Amino acid sequence: MSTSEEHSPAQEAALVNEQARRAAQAGLNLKPSSRMAASVPAEQRLAVGTAPAVSVEDAVFSCRDVSVLYAGKSALSNVTINIARKQVLAVIGPSGCGKSTFLRCLNRMNDTIAGARVTGSILLEGRDILAKEQDVAQLRAEVGMVFQKPNPFPKSIFENVAYGPRIHGLARGSAELDDIVCTSLRRAGLWDEVKDRLHRPGTSLSGGQQQRLCIARTIAVQPEVILMDEPCSALDPIATARIEDLMDELRASYTIVIVTHSMQQAARVSQRTAYFHLGELIEVGETNRVFTNPRQKLTEDYISGRFG
Ligand SMILES: Nc1ncnc2c1ncn2[C@@H]1O[C@H](COP(=O)(O)OP(=O)(O)OP(=O)(O)O)[C@@H](O)[C@H]1O
Ligand SMILES: [Mg+2]
Repeated sequence: MSTSEEHSPAQEAALVNEQARRAAQAGLNLKPSSRMAASVPAEQRLAVGTAPAVSVEDAVFSCRDVSVLYAGKSALSNVTINIARKQVLAVIGPSGCGKSTFLRCLNRMNDTIAGARVTGSILLEGRDILAKEQDVAQLRAEVGMVFQKPNPFPKSIFENVAYGPRIHGLARGSAELDDIVCTSLRRAGLWDEVKDRLHRPGTSLSGGQQQRLCIARTIAVQPEVILMDEPCSALDPIATARIEDLMDELRASYTIVIVTHSMQQAARVSQRTAYFHLGELIEVGETNRVFTNPRQKLTEDYISGRFG
């Protein structure tokens, strides 16, 4: 049920304006990690239900009824969503609502957590990635991940980027490997800053540069999808702006899923936004629409700062 079905065009316009005003007023750049999810009365949650399947024209990922249990306790419940090719999907929601859990489903990182159980179906280009036959190392090259805290290997800048192509046999010789490293660093917007010190440790770079190095490392193995879990939360505003600009360039070649606590960032970088609450996908749609005209009260309450 959408709000647009319940109001006249004039009422609808007024409603959209009011919601946009409240969203703008709400201090959207707050990181609500330290706040607890507001407890939602069961009857309201039942009334909201889970978001309907959302079709996108060209889906890279197609997730159906994905649920995750940690030691028998539900963390994600029946998530059904398509993720569109060469777009940025922002995943937002209160702390503990399952954003990272969902992201980790997409490259089977939950496999590394003892007691985690993932059910449902996740198709990547039509292929079931939860199948036993799925080569997980290969999957993680196709679906790369950039974490909250930059985590370069304790190796040189060059080796950080060369490592993946080498183990996946992507270069036929050292000239080709040099080329992959150079291209990846260029695409990550880091080449000019590091070309004269490729053999210095990756950890000698600033935090923002390290995060771009991690992006270069991810790109080097020619992924289809890049997952980013709060990639800017440890960065200053200038480094954050660099990464956001970079995401805009990268989406010409890659599909990106970013978890962020900054709704301003979600609005700036993404074309679609998914709102999660207590392990459920409440709403997903075009970013501008979700922020200005949310269809679910839970989404509206969150983006207008009524709870975090
Ligand atoms: N390794 C784990 N073992 C057990 N429970 C976990 C584990 N990781 C997450 N959980 C639980 O699963 C739920 C979802 O956690 P998740 O980390 O996905 O939330 P999140 O939305 O990413 O939160 P945040 O915004 O704080 O990063 C929470 O209740 C959390 O306590
Ligand atoms: Mg998280």
